Amino acid sequence: MALSQTVETPVLTYEQPLGLFINNEFVKGVDGKTFETINPHNEKPIVAVHEGTADDVNIAVKAARTALNGEWKQITPSERGRLLTRLADFLERDIDTLAAIEALDNGKGVSMAKGDVTASAGCLRYYGGWADKIYGQTIDTDTNSLTYTRHEPVGVCGQIIPWNFPLLMFAWKIGPALATGNTIVMKTAEQTPLSGLYVAKLIKEAGFPPGVVNVISGFGRTAGAAIASHMDIDKVAFTGSTLVGRQIMKSAADSNLKKVTLELGGKSPNIVLPDANLEEAIEWVNLGIFFNHGQCCCAGSRILVHEAVYDKFLELFKKRAEQNKVGDPFHSETFQGPQVSQIQYDRIMGYIQDGKGAGATVVTGGDRHGSEGYYIQPTIFADVTENMTIVKEEIFGPVCTVQKVQSEEEAIQVANDTNYGLAAAVHTTNINTAIRVSNAVKAGTVWVNNYNTLHYQMPFGGFKESGIGRELGSYALENYTEVKTVRIHLSKS
Ligand code: NAI
Ligand code: MG
Repeated sequence: MALSQTVETPVLTYEQPLGLFINNEFVKGVDGKTFETINPHNEKPIVAVHEGTADDVNIAVKAARTALNGEWKQITPSERGRLLTRLADFLERDIDTLAAIEALDNGKGVSMAKGDVTASAGCLRYYGGWADKIYGQTIDTDTNSLTYTRHEPVGVCGQIIPWNFPLLMFAWKIGPALATGNTIVMKTAEQTPLSGLYVAKLIKEAGFPPGVVNVISGFGRTAGAAIASHMDIDKVAFTGSTLVGRQIMKSAADSNLKKVTLELGGKSPNIVLPDANLEEAIEWVNLGIFFNHGQCCCAGSRILVHEAVYDKFLELFKKRAEQNKVGDPFHSETFQGPQVSQIQYDRIMGYIQDGKGAGATVVTGGDRHGSEGYYIQPTIFADVTENMTIVKEEIFGPVCTVQKVQSEEEAIQVANDTNYGLAAAVHTTNINTAIRVSNAVKAGTVWVNNYNTLHYQMPFGGFKESGIGRELGSYALENYTEVKTVRIHLSKS
């Protein structure tokens, strides 16, 4: 099978790389397998890409190790920064193509996808700026010694990303790793391999030496598992389900104790208090759950509303949710496209059935949208109880529950009644309430009077079972550096 193919999208035609990207070349997999990626809008295959398995991961790790000890080591931090900045420029140059790829392969609206491209370029440029600002310390213990620390790269990093933000997760992962001088074996999600391969082409064009970034298209149980258990990978970074996050930690423990960072699921509470500006709150609540079709780890899926405003809130929120434009990702006005895959569609519809069966009230939605593609109506459940599955488990679709609470204290108690702790929000116009609630909720990010406003300068990650470590901001640099202490004894003469 060919290593590239011309792909037509409704807005443009482009050349799609199909091979595994190892040592700056697109190659076939060792066992010659390929797999198809599906357009979730019409359920039809887009192209087949070459599939990487454990043998290909081995080859990629060797390439990454050679680069780490060779050419990449010789490159100055400033030059690493320049390469990242140049890659950011190329993402922006090719924004229309990259957005079209994301819309085609993932199903997100093309205008949302452009936002992802801009945020990805911003992230790479931000870490480009960090590359020559990685400092250790000098530590004065006594007059007979000189002690200092070096922040050295961890080494070869395995990075496993999901399908909900294929390009953005790629950028979040490679930015801090490359800024600090590591090399990478990246496995993209099997549902959305296309944008990663396109970026691989840009990585080569930007001038990164061979082997610094290697990109494997492939499945979790084969290529993903091979990364997690590899004896010559020094660190694994993963974004995806909590279930797989646990497996990755186990594999790391059972192999070489590689360092692990995990960004996992959530069931994030979004609290609306009586003194909130209700119209603004509803906009943020709507965005909080329905943005990216609910396929966000930080989705505000549990909406907790004070009884004083509950009825009014529900009436306005229903109206607002019904205005969300659901449809073809390539229509410029589309807000919500299809779910990414048949499996995700079935999983979400299963939760909706479960909610109905358990006696929750469907305020709006609750069904398939249209007859082709993995479309689901924006769905709001009310009259739920705390032990219902739809209140407990991450649904990862356009489905939320609204719960009535009687006080700020109850809101906090219900908000924290979960194993997850990725994000939370509170809507109030009282600064004291805002700070009190923000301090009390157990979550890695708390939004006050907004939602889903991530930024590459702000750390992001989870309390409790939502993960280990922080991505983005300066905090992410710590995941990709080993601190070495050097103590020098000073001779008297
Ligand atoms: P997943 O966790 O299986 O997939 C995420 C990535 O992990 C993919 O690249 C996949 O190939 C890889 N993977 C799967 N099994 C692996 C293994 N044994 N070893 C190494 N890598 C492996 O998630 P999936 O099945 O796509 O979605 C299931 C649920 O996970 C969703 O409904 C959602 O609740 C959650 N999820 C959370 C995400 C987040 O942003 N935190 C992203 C995607 C899914
Ligand atoms: Mg696809």
